Formats: sequence, C-alpha cells, structure tokens
Amino acid sequence: MEVIIQSNAEMAARMVADPIARALAGKPDLVLGLATGCTMEAVYDQLVRWHQEAGLDFSRCRAFNLDEYVGLAANDPCSYHYFMQQRFFDGVNIDPRNTHLPDGMADDLEAECVNYEKLIAANDGIDLQVLGIGLNGHLGFNEPLSAFRSRTRVQTLSWVTRAQNAPLFPSPGQVPRHALTMGVGTILEARRCLLLATGLEKADMVAKAIEGPLTAMITATALQLHPACTIVLDKEAASSLKENDHYQRNVSTHYAAPNLPGNHLSSVTSQKPLLAGQV
Ligand code: GLP
Repeated sequence: MEVIIQSNAEMAARMVADPIARALAGKPDLVLGLATGCTMEAVYDQLVRWHQEAGLDFSRCRAFNLDEYVGLAANDPCSYHYFMQQRFFDGVNIDPRNTHLPDGMADDLEAECVNYEKLIAANDGIDLQVLGIGLNGHLGFNEPLSAFRSRTRVQTLSWVTRAQNAPLFPSPGQVPRHALTMGVGTILEARRCLLLATGLEKADMVAKAIEGPLTAMITATALQLHPACTIVLDKEAASSLKENDHYQRNVSTHYAAPNLPGNHLSSVTSQKPLLAGQV
C-alpha cells in the first residue's frame, strides 16, 4: 500500500484523476471501477475538463460502478445511476453501452448480482478501481462484518451510512435500507485500487483503514491485502495517521507530482505509469 498526502482536497483529487487519465491513455479500452460520493465529484470534474479541453478519450473505456440503492430507478435524482450520468458520463464521450451499475430495480436482485459479477469477468476484470470511504470505513456499500471474500450482493445499510447519506435525500426517511454492492472480494480482484479521502471527518477511519488491524468491521482495512493499492489523502484526512512523516518521505521517490493547472493532457499522457507493474 502506498499513501500519498496532498496539501488540500483539490490537489488530492488531481492526484487521483491524473493516474486515471494516464491509465486510459495507455490502454484506451481500460476497465474502470467507479465510485460515487461527494469526494469523487472533484475527480470527475477534472476528468470532464481534460476530456473537453484536451481530448481525453473515453470512447473505448468500460466502466463498472461499485453500487446502487435498492428501489431507486435510474432517473431518480438520488440514485447512483443519476449521479454518474450527471457528474461524469454526460460530460465525456464514454459509450453508454459501456457504462454499468447494478440495477437496484431488478425483479430478481440475487440474479442481478450474479450477472454483474459475470459481466465484470466477461470484460476481463477491473483494471483500475477508484474508491471512496464511508464514515464507518466501508468500501462501496460493504458494511461492517462484510466478508473479505464477499461478492456482489444485496447489503443492508447501517444507520451510520444511512445518516451519512441522508443529506442527499429529500428526507432522512427516504434513504433506502438496502443496496447492491460489489463485494470486498470483487474489489480486491481489481488489478489496481486507488482510494481518495478528504476532510477531517474521515481522519479516524482513514487511520484505522491504513494502520489498524485487519477487520471485517472496517472493510477498507482489506486494502492492506491488495498488492497495488494507493491511498490519496488531503492533510486533514491524514491527520490521525501515526506514520504520517514516513509516508510523505516514501512517496516522493515513487510518485510523480500532479500536473499543474493548464499543463494537462500532453503531460498526463506522456508520463510513464506511476509504479512498476501497475496499469
Ligand atoms: C457512499 C458510497 C461509497 C462512498 C461513500 C463516501 O456510501 N457507497 O462508495 O465511498 O459514500 O461518500 P462521500 O465521498 O460523500 O463521503
């Protein structure tokens, strides 16, 4: 695991958008695993800007989202389908046939989960999985006690998660009680994982995820088992880490600085992949 600490949230988002753009430039039919959440908005904004201003090409890219609420239709403004469409897919030239989210309206939710796994496998697996982290340390909607080998499935949402996401709904009572989510095992199979966390409210969970013991109570700790995982943080989200200085010293030798504003795609695409063996 590698930990990258940036001085602010904007720089941290840039540090996530940058390797996505480079991976895409190196493999135009990249299979991206995507996440929702407010933290991701700055990453998608940056990718949309690079598409519009510098021609970053998503035409052959394939995308699989982590999760979706049960019972929300794709055109429901609170659904993750809607979020992805508005925040990202509508802003780039990705082929709608190549965008995938689990269908929380499926008649047979179990079959939907099995088929989602099959579709990921039929696309030869996820090259680069982008992740946020919930206030209880969840990845996707893998709530406490999710097995590290779990697959895409129906998950009952915890009260912490429902409270965290309540501001995005007209009223707290409208937050769904269930979701479909890729499993921890599904996520760990991605060839590379890239997690972004910003802000003080994530600091405690980030420290537990990175430095704490492995536990199914905090599913993000499973990333410690992943052979190619990078965690990008702003200073606030990094503020509870014990080995903060060590991470900062280590990273500088491995990880390129993000491109400066205005110095986009040409430098994005001309750089080598950041770490040996990664996408
Ligand atoms: C939801 C999503 C997670 C995401 C989390 C963080 O729970 N299912 O995938 O990581 O929100 O959201 P935010 O970035 O808004 O803190």
